[in-house]
Amino acid sequence: MEGDLGAGKTTFTKGLAEGLGVKRSVSSPTFTIIKEYEGELPLYHMDVYRLEYSDEDIGFDEYFNGNGISVVEWATFIEDYLPDERLNINISYIDEQSRELKFQAVGTHFEWVLNELKR
Ligand SMILES: Nc1ncnc2c1ncn2[C@@H]1O[C@H](COP(=O)(O)OP(=O)(O)O)[C@@H](O)[C@H]1O
Ligand SMILES: [Mg+2]
Repeated sequence: MEGDLGAGKTTFTKGLAEGLGVKRSVSSPTFTIIKEYEGELPLYHMDVYRLEYSDEDIGFDEYFNGNGISVVEWATFIEDYLPDERLNINISYIDEQSRELKFQAVGTHFEWVLNELKR
């Protein structure tokens, strides 16, 4: 996920968590980098803002190749570690009440996901 501070990345993740049936409340993982939640699928919520000038690998592969859904705020900061198949989401602020979301599928699986969303 990409989008300026305050664009709505964490808020979007809260909605995703709700859809997955996560009972705990989702809060920003800015200081912990990653938070894990249990839902119908595990949810791994990462905020890698603090890794902008670092090439630290906190074990991304295990999350990305695991059975859960990984959501990454400021994903371009860990571009080298991102999986080849993914859904890029760009959120921008329009006004206090509205946001624009752009979805870009990378790889055939997420092309399918996007088509399902459009139906
Ligand atoms: N789709 C939306 N519509 C209206 N307000 C939103 C929306 N998404 C987020 N907000 C508000 O914008 C503020 C910042 O959202 P947040 O999700 O923390 O942004 P980010 O994680 O991108 O920094 C919050 O006060 C939140 O309630
Ligand atoms: Mg956030």
